[in-house]
Amino acid sequence: MQIKGNTVLITGAGRGLGAAMARRFAELGADLALVDLDAAGLDAVAQSCRALGRRAETYRAQISATFDRVVADFGRLDCMIANAGILRDGLLVKVKDGAVVGKLPLAQWQAVIDVNLTGVFLCGREAAERMIKLGNPGCIINISSLSRAGNFGQSNYSAAKAGVSALTVVWSKELARYHIRVNAIAPGFIKTEMVASMKPEILEKMAAGIPVQRLGEPSEIAETAAFIVQTDYVNGRVLEIDGGQRL
Ligand SMILES: NC(=O)c1ccc[n+]([C@@H]2O[C@H](COP(=O)([O-])OP(=O)(O)OC[C@H]3O[C@@H](n4cnc5c(N)ncnc54)[C@H](O)[C@@H]3O)[C@@H](O)[C@H]2O)c1
Repeated sequence: MQIKGNTVLITGAGRGLGAAMARRFAELGADLALVDLDAAGLDAVAQSCRALGRRAETYRAQISATFDRVVADFGRLDCMIANAGILRDGLLVKVKDGAVVGKLPLAQWQAVIDVNLTGVFLCGREAAERMIKLGNPGCIINISSLSRAGNFGQSNYSAAKAGVSALTVVWSKELARYHIRVNAIAPGFIKTEMVASMKPEILEKMAAGIPVQRLGEPSEIAETAAFIVQTDYVNGRVLEIDGGQRL
C-alpha cells in the first residue's frame, strides 16, 4: 500500500514512538489523525506534520466517536497504528527480609490491561469496521513489546503485550478477506520518554545487555511501520526490532 495521500490514524501520538511515526508518515506524504490524552503534545506533533505540508487533525474523544470523526473529517481511513501504552511496573509479590510486604494491586494490573490491551482491541475493532464499510484496503499495526516474552516486574505489561501479539495474528486471519493486513511491532528498549522514566542504573544495565550495545531510536520504529505499510505481503507478523535482545 502506498503511503502518499493516505490517511493514517495513530494513537499515543503526542510524544515518543507515536510522534516519531506521525512525523515519518507526514514526510512520506500521509495525512494524519493524531490521538492522545495530552493536548499540548498532540498540538506540537500536529504542527510539525503540517509544517511538512500534510493535513493533521487531533482527537481526544472516546474511541468510537474519534473513529467516526476521523472518517467524517478525512473521508477515508487507510492505516491505524495502535500505539498508546502505559507502564505501571510492580512485582507480583514483594518480599523484604523474608516477609511478604506487598502484592501487585488489582488496580495497577487493570490500568495497564485497560490501556495496553483493551485499548488495542477497541481501536482494532473500530478501525476494521470503518475500513470494511469504506471498502478500501487497510493496514493495522499494533505496538507490542519485547516484554511480551515475560519481563521481570511487568506482569501487567507483559500480559497485555503478549495479548496484543495474539490479537494481531487473529485479526490478520479474520480480516485478510477484506484486504486489511494486520501486523505488530515488538520494540526492544527505545529512547523515548517512557524509557527515560526508568532508573538510570537500570537503563545502563539494559544497554549493556543488548547485543548492539545501545538503545533503539524512535526513527527505527517509525521506519519499520513505514516498511509494513508499503510491503503488501507482510501480514500476521510481529516484527521484533530490539537490537537482537532476548529476555
Ligand atoms: N519506548 C520503548 O522502549 C518501548 C518498548 C516496547 C514497546 N513500547 C510501546 O510503544 C508504545 C509507545 O511507547 P512510548 O515509549 O512512545 O511511550 P510514551 O510514554 O513516550 O508515549 C505514550 C503516549 O501515549 C499516550 N497515551 C497513554 N495512554 C493513552 C490513552 N489511554 N489514550 C490515548 N493516548 C494515551 C501518552 O499520553 C503518551 O503521549 C507503547 O505502547 C509502549 O508500550 C515502547
